[in-house]
Amino acid sequence: MSESSGEQLRVAVVGGDGIGPEVIEQGLRVIEAAGVSLETEHYDLGGSRYLRDGTILPDEVLAEWRDVHAIYLGAVGTPDVPPGVIERGLLLKMRFELDLYVNQRPFKLAAAGGGSANEADGVPGHDFVVIRENTEGTYAGEGGFLRKGTPHEIATQGSVNTRMGAERCIRYAYDLATRRNDHLTLVHKTNVLTFSGDLWDRTFTEVGGEYPGVDTAYNHVDAACIYFVQDPQRYDVIVTDNLFGDILTDLGGAVSGGIGLASSANLNPDRTGPSMFEPVHGSAPDIAGQNKANPIAAILSGALMLDFLGQGEAARRIEAACDACAELDGSTVEVADAVMAKL
Ligand code: IPM
Ligand code: MN
Repeated sequence: MSESSGEQLRVAVVGGDGIGPEVIEQGLRVIEAAGVSLETEHYDLGGSRYLRDGTILPDEVLAEWRDVHAIYLGAVGTPDVPPGVIERGLLLKMRFELDLYVNQRPFKLAAAGGGSANEADGVPGHDFVVIRENTEGTYAGEGGFLRKGTPHEIATQGSVNTRMGAERCIRYAYDLATRRNDHLTLVHKTNVLTFSGDLWDRTFTEVGGEYPGVDTAYNHVDAACIYFVQDPQRYDVIVTDNLFGDILTDLGGAVSGGIGLASSANLNPDRTGPSMFEPVHGSAPDIAGQNKANPIAAILSGALMLDFLGQGEAARRIEAACDACAELDGSTVEVADAVMAKL
């Protein structure tokens, strides 16, 4: 749905598997406490549902979602389902079918000596954001087997890169850079991926011609991994392909307070359908149902959702409250209570 101004916001909620439902429940409590009323409909989808009756993501559900403003998702996947079934059948299907071509993943480094990311205390805090292409690359599903199960087996898994796909994602990143600090870094592996890397690099340079005020940089992805650990302050906005973005954003979470804080927005920037908001972390079945999971990543994903739906003021308040609670050690409910108390 494209327009949200003034009308009742309708959100499809997929708690999913493992810790997904418990962190999303807290996210919804915080949104309500921030004064935003959502009309929610809960969908029982994920690995557990699949094991019960074989349902993954029916077309009727996708059709219903065309009429909501956003989808708020916890985590999907259980160890009892073979890898790929739920990931491809549910999560990636959503990204592809709803054309969620930008995966926006923000990170905040705390100031040295504690305190919020904005506090100048010794080494000041710093925040940066990764824009991950979300519909192409190795995720597109190109490839297959030949002679499967024989000694002469062949498996290929291609990387699909279209000019249109790279360009719309890169353009989104430039636009974001102009709203932030006019700095954008392309991360790829142009020294080895001489076809896809060349397409990305040329597109990055050509689109950059339209943004003369944005300073640009380029890093190979392996070097970017070092900089994420040793010098993340060099980054403001990063744009990269699907697989590099997947790996780099787990690392981003690890260097900025842990994956329990990492939020993400799967965006359809053209608003031809709903966007989807989910924590970067997975379903963590080992701690599911124990009130142990950190709900901050889910709460911050809820803030990204509110921001995208035109509720920027509530989003800012939730983010500030989460910053103040980022180092809190408590149960799922306790951490959410603390965030609500700071609103
Ligand atoms: C993520 C996840 C997914 C991905 C998996 C679950 C398919 O790791 O959102 O980062 O690889 O994109
Ligand atoms: Mn990932």
